[in-house]
Amino acid sequence: MKKTYYITTPIYYPSGNLHIGNTYTTVFCDALRRYKDMRGYDTYYLTGMDEHGKKIETVAQERNLHPIKHVDEIAEATKALWDRMSISYDDFIRTTEKRHKTVVQKLFEQLLDQGDIYLGEYEGYYCMHCEAFFTESQLEEGNACPDCERETSKLQEESYFLRLSKYQKKLLNFIEDNPDFITPETRRNEVLNFIRQGLNDLSVSRTTFDWGIKIVSNPKHVVYVWIDALSNYISALGYGTDNDELFQKYWYGDEVVHVVGKDILRFHAIYWPIMLMALGIPITFKLHAHGFYTAKEGKMSKSKGSVVYPDTLIERYGLDELRYFLLRELPYGGDGVFTPASFVERINYDLANDFGNLLNRTVSMINKYLSGKVASYSEASTEYDADLQTMCKETVATYSDYMDNLKVSEAIKTVWAFISRTNKYIDETEPWILGKDKNKKDELENVLYHLAESLRHIGVMLQPILLDASQSLFKQLGIPQALRRYETLSFGELREAEVVRKPSPLFPRLDQEKEIDKLTKHLRGEEEEPVPEEEDNLATFDDFTKLDMRVAKITKCAPHKNADKLLVLQVDLGEGKERQIVAGIAKHYEPESLVGKKVVVVANLEPVTLRGEKSEGMLLAGSNDDILEVLTVDRLNPGDSVS
Ligand code: MSP
Repeated sequence: MKKTYYITTPIYYPSGNLHIGNTYTTVFCDALRRYKDMRGYDTYYLTGMDEHGKKIETVAQERNLHPIKHVDEIAEATKALWDRMSISYDDFIRTTEKRHKTVVQKLFEQLLDQGDIYLGEYEGYYCMHCEAFFTESQLEEGNACPDCERETSKLQEESYFLRLSKYQKKLLNFIEDNPDFITPETRRNEVLNFIRQGLNDLSVSRTTFDWGIKIVSNPKHVVYVWIDALSNYISALGYGTDNDELFQKYWYGDEVVHVVGKDILRFHAIYWPIMLMALGIPITFKLHAHGFYTAKEGKMSKSKGSVVYPDTLIERYGLDELRYFLLRELPYGGDGVFTPASFVERINYDLANDFGNLLNRTVSMINKYLSGKVASYSEASTEYDADLQTMCKETVATYSDYMDNLKVSEAIKTVWAFISRTNKYIDETEPWILGKDKNKKDELENVLYHLAESLRHIGVMLQPILLDASQSLFKQLGIPQALRRYETLSFGELREAEVVRKPSPLFPRLDQEKEIDKLTKHLRGEEEEPVPEEEDNLATFDDFTKLDMRVAKITKCAPHKNADKLLVLQVDLGEGKERQIVAGIAKHYEPESLVGKKVVVVANLEPVTLRGEKSEGMLLAGSNDDILEVLTVDRLNPGDSVS
């Protein structure tokens, strides 16, 4: 029987689009889930949305929408984002779903019947953003919230309370007896100190707004959003229902991990375990709190143009590039900084130079010297071979240990140290010199074998991190499916392989300065500078003839789901198969009015993905200050050339 692994992200507030900070948690869990899959676990990955509370109600009101309309929209957009990011989640729970509400109502009544929740009165200062009450002494200057520093308002209301005080000792004992319950250790200590100062009973209901789960026995109250939200980890598994198979299997299984950001540690380390204790459910989970992504000048801020959204980065640079950066740059227990420079440099130095080049050189040399075939394994014959093999073995062990302990950034660094070692091996063994001497054929075969086998190991270890690049590596090296598995990581398992004739770069190198500049401007919301019309900017005739312009008939046209300005068109270029083109003309045309029109298309532009939709060409259009008009033709047919 396989061991089980249940991993969860926090459920996100649908207050706006997710930025790279909250995206990080989801990518982190995805990498761990994929790693555990690779290690043969039966895994289950839960994510979702935390859709109730005053804050969401207010955001919806500002948009003139019923809250459910608002949260439906954001939940769809979030799922689409996860799909674009190839997040391998099994379930997406939304707290507005019936399956969740029923469980929350039931457990609330149970706690009320048991006397763990009681009715009282609350007087204090309320922070709408954090959905939390504070006493006057806890406030910052100007009655500001001690957590988010926003202004609080004074409130007095009837409220239900959860008896945290009753469970304080039990929780303290539990955390002390289970040193690995909360990681990293610094976070564990923070929690212990907080509990030792004494826990006040927690207000767990609200009467000042409606947008929440009603308390069955007293419907003028709605359940406090954190009690509602934390329950998702078990409601999604069917806890308390007739169909609780998943709950039985994964909650009581081998490993349960909640991953959260450091800002929401207390809720997960105190309220959640106490809720479980009161409900008589064992605390089977481990809690991991990661740090924050910030901008260079501190917290990401919209007004300073330092909030970074994942869509832009994926479209422009690619998914693997973003996953790599996010997972690499945030160290275990610490914070990470996103700057355009660090992002572009990681792509160029780590991905294109160190890793991409290693594969490229290896495939090229195997083609050049061995007609594309990697020779079978021979024993380590030089000290370089022995050293490389030893490091390969150690790398697998260290990498696995780090991944097992949620140290993903450290695991990646370990693999990169091995990539550097493998690059050095090329300098040490100088295959281009061996290639000149017929008598050195065996030696050369052995060197290239070592390179291919090292790369196979690297590819396997990077599978949970770099989704496309690891598969491309296997393809380019001709590694059979069976040898892409973790269990085959032992130097010498590769017998023979035939590499592709022409290697393709894993990661195209970026023009560093230009990209840093572009990205910086983009984040600030500034338009790109127009290209100056200088004389040496004239296009040559050759430049012009490079463009393959053709007539295309528009067969379908629809608005782009994620961008107001774009239309998604299907066009017939007489190729027997339609192509998709994304065009920035939504403000000028109704989609249906374009269907049937014959237009001119640049057919040999490099394909791009625009907000998640592939575009394989460009429409020609003319414009002035008032109008934009797509160029159309009359008597020509699809596929006819234009010059
Ligand atoms: N809805 C609650 C969680 C309930 S879980 C039962 C919530 N939502 S959130 O959308 O505000 O935040 C979700 C996660 O994103 C949290 O783990 C939070 O720590 C994380 N992050 C938000 N900003 C972040 C960064 N700048 N960097 C890294 N993680 C960040 O809290």
